[in-house]
Amino acid sequence: MTGIDLSRRSLLPLAVGFWATTSASASPPTQPRAPWWKNSVFYEIYPRSFQDGNSDGIGDFIGMKDRLEYLAELGVDAIWVAACFDSPNVDNGYDVRDYRKIMPDFGTMENFDAFLARAKQLGIRVILDMVFNHTSDQHRWFIASRSSRNNRYRDFYHWHDGKNGAPPTNWQTQFGGSAWTLDEKTGQYYLHSFEAQQPDLNWENPEVRAELYAILKFWADKGVDGFRFDAITFIAKPEKLYDLTPEEIPARKTFADHGDRLSFYLKDMYEHVFKNTDLYSVGENWGVSRDEYARITDSRNKELSSGFRFDFQIKDNVDAWRKGTFHLSDLRAFNRDNSFDDHPGTWPVVWLEDHDYSRSVSRYGSQRPEYRDRSAKLLATMMLSLRGTPFIYQGQEIGMTNFPFKSIDQFDDVFAHNEWRLQVESGHISSQEMLVNLAATTRDNTRTPMQWNDGPNAGFSVVKPWMLVNPNFRTINCSAESSDPRSVLSFYKAMIRTRKQFPVLIHGTYKDVSPDDPQIYAYIREDSTNRVLIALNFSDDEKTLPLPEGKTVKRIIASNMDRTQIQSSSMHMQPWESVVVIL
Ligand code: GLC
Ligand code: CA
Repeated sequence: MTGIDLSRRSLLPLAVGFWATTSASASPPTQPRAPWWKNSVFYEIYPRSFQDGNSDGIGDFIGMKDRLEYLAELGVDAIWVAACFDSPNVDNGYDVRDYRKIMPDFGTMENFDAFLARAKQLGIRVILDMVFNHTSDQHRWFIASRSSRNNRYRDFYHWHDGKNGAPPTNWQTQFGGSAWTLDEKTGQYYLHSFEAQQPDLNWENPEVRAELYAILKFWADKGVDGFRFDAITFIAKPEKLYDLTPEEIPARKTFADHGDRLSFYLKDMYEHVFKNTDLYSVGENWGVSRDEYARITDSRNKELSSGFRFDFQIKDNVDAWRKGTFHLSDLRAFNRDNSFDDHPGTWPVVWLEDHDYSRSVSRYGSQRPEYRDRSAKLLATMMLSLRGTPFIYQGQEIGMTNFPFKSIDQFDDVFAHNEWRLQVESGHISSQEMLVNLAATTRDNTRTPMQWNDGPNAGFSVVKPWMLVNPNFRTINCSAESSDPRSVLSFYKAMIRTRKQFPVLIHGTYKDVSPDDPQIYAYIREDSTNRVLIALNFSDDEKTLPLPEGKTVKRIIASNMDRTQIQSSSMHMQPWESVVVIL
């Protein structure tokens, strides 16, 4: 055990701020050689919605720079900036037109450089989002590629002849509809895993890979610390075209190849860009099995440092739009699976929110207003006490909730509008049913402007923001929470500190000690110094958790209810109570 005992005051105002600044390079004593990203807490910024710095209603790098002190105080070590390059914004920046240019909405390269320099001064690292499965259809490579069948860029993308007047295969996009679009001019179809304006790159072509690596080097030379790879598990396509079975289509089975070709490309990229650097690479590892994930992220295989998995996130989000029920058993099973104790070479990512899912407190927390904050803190306790690198999404640290969507025109997301067309306008689903479901699941929920204060537009912008502000900003906002030692924000700060103070919470082994309980979730993290029990009551009821046999609590290191002692051999827990104790 190291450091000062904060057990009595870990959630009191005194502690807040005291440990607030962090140094990205400080590694805990027990793991001197762990790469920096293992000991880091990340924070995802969705630039469009974070902070407007030039009063046009859109978030930008000037705004991001101005808010870096806030992030330093929160205690995060690194930032993932979501898609921020020049783009026609069919998919909010995930359709890149120029990989070496900042999206004009977000500012200039000078604005970016100033942001990066300030982040470095504060000891905060920065990784950028690389959308390399596809480009925009406005990218110069695609414009050239579609111009004629023998253009030198033709082979940068996947072009095929149709089959009897129909697309080459029955493959579907992730957003719904055929994955092939006919280009009238040259009479062939091109492949796209997402929208038609997002044509997939042909990674089989070494020239494509060389171009992409050069882009990575360009940003690495500027001083960024790594990359998040968008849709990276889609980059490899089957060697031969084939049709999916009629059952596989509604199940949204991917046609992407998760085997050898994917590994080949990732190893190639590693060799050319990541070797002998301490750059971090984290994949959006959508749709791969646990074994495939372990292979892709095993440090000995030299592919990716780590990756996001989705097996849990999709459980209560059926077909990407229908609201399913959250079961604690799914979360428990996923966390056990995702701890990768059996794969020492694999280092997972821990996350509950990103820009593609709705708000975690609305999904997994209490629906009763009196327990909202407490359940948000419980989720923080869990996220920051699991093995892996935690990624907090902007606004999660103040307990932002879903938006009360009431009509389809309030949605911005291309996916929501596509589903509306496919399901409602075609008469499959009533508009009411679709709205209720979309409101609960839409990724627009995490794209509403950041709630900084209770002033106009929540302090996000002095003019009308590009996206609706959640009406609860008057009570849920950073400014109010900063001065409240019992706020969700203060709890996040304390919990991040606790994680750093007790490396067992980062590196220890993981053992579930509540296998069948539908309401209490408890697990033990252990290393050679400490055995820590994390107990979480995921319910509106009081519950009792027996302590593991023969064990008593030595010390409480985090509590979302200011608990200072546990005397008996069982723990009586309040609704949504969370506690972290040393046994
Ligand atoms: C990823 C991004 C998402 C985007 C998609 C296509 O899933 O996170 O926002 O729509 O890729 O690039
Ligand atoms: Ca702006």
